[in-house]
Amino acid sequence: MTEYETILVDRKGRVGIITLNRPKALNALNTQLMTEVVAAAKDFDRDPEIGCLVITGSEKAFAAGADIKEMQDNRFPDVYLDDWLGPWDELGRLRKPVVAAVAGYALGGGCELAMLCDILLAADTAKFGQPEIKLGVIPGIGGSQRLTRAVGKAKAMELCLTGRMMDAEEAERAGLVSRIVPADQLLAEAMATAETVAAMSAPAAVMMKESVNRAFETTLAEGVRFERRLFHAAFATADQKEGMTAFAEKRPANFSNK
Ligand code: CAA
Repeated sequence: MTEYETILVDRKGRVGIITLNRPKALNALNTQLMTEVVAAAKDFDRDPEIGCLVITGSEKAFAAGADIKEMQDNRFPDVYLDDWLGPWDELGRLRKPVVAAVAGYALGGGCELAMLCDILLAADTAKFGQPEIKLGVIPGIGGSQRLTRAVGKAKAMELCLTGRMMDAEEAERAGLVSRIVPADQLLAEAMATAETVAAMSAPAAVMMKESVNRAFETTLAEGVRFERRLFHAAFATADQKEGMTAFAEKRPANFSNK
């Protein structure tokens, strides 16, 4: 397995796990960490033995945002020509489902990284926010867009314009997170969720992720048409036969990912 310095990478069965690991900087997302997360995630995405990914941080911080000290001296031509933070978009293009397991601070780029994932589990200690305004900038990895789609305009505006953090309860009420779990069970719950997803038919899981994401990119009519085509396409898989036969025979399905 490739050696990384700012992340830990592990695999358990069909689940690939990426742990952000810059504890002294509360997992601030510097260029090295971004490059490593994207590389590790793409490796897992290409690996047929992996069905789902988990991205997590530490007890204190999922990630406290983009690395402020790294970017403070940059000027427009530097960041523009370098497409600063652009590589994070590659995470949104992963085909396999990704579970974010968030404890502690998920601020700025940390909140945006969590929102780039597909299932967002929050520990009861999680705190979400887009405090970029306090630094004289705005979010740069999709925060103003994904937070608004997740929680609606009023709350997104308030959080982005004031930099206020919201706790896990508020984030769940607002629809940002799928579930809150006690902090000491966060990783176990994230793994159980990821293992459940990874045990499904891989083609069906990829189709499902693509289809749900379409809801954010297109009209309802186009989205329904897209879903219907993928639904029909699923009948070309051995897993459709296995899944439906297993149901009829009252036994668990044993998918071959074919
Ligand atoms: N970048 C660089 N270093 C950071 C950091 C960040 N985003 N967040 C924390 N750190 C560093 C601190 O500088 C500190 O380092 P030193 O010990 O060397 O001084 C260390 O991590 C621990 O942090 P604190 O001492 O501040 O810890 P705390 O518990 O008192 O406070 C906190 C925690 C409220 C999260 C506070 O660290 C904080 O406000 N961090 C910045 C949050 C922020 O503004 N994030 C947005 C960044 S911009 C962005 O993300 C743009 C985008 O859209 C991509």
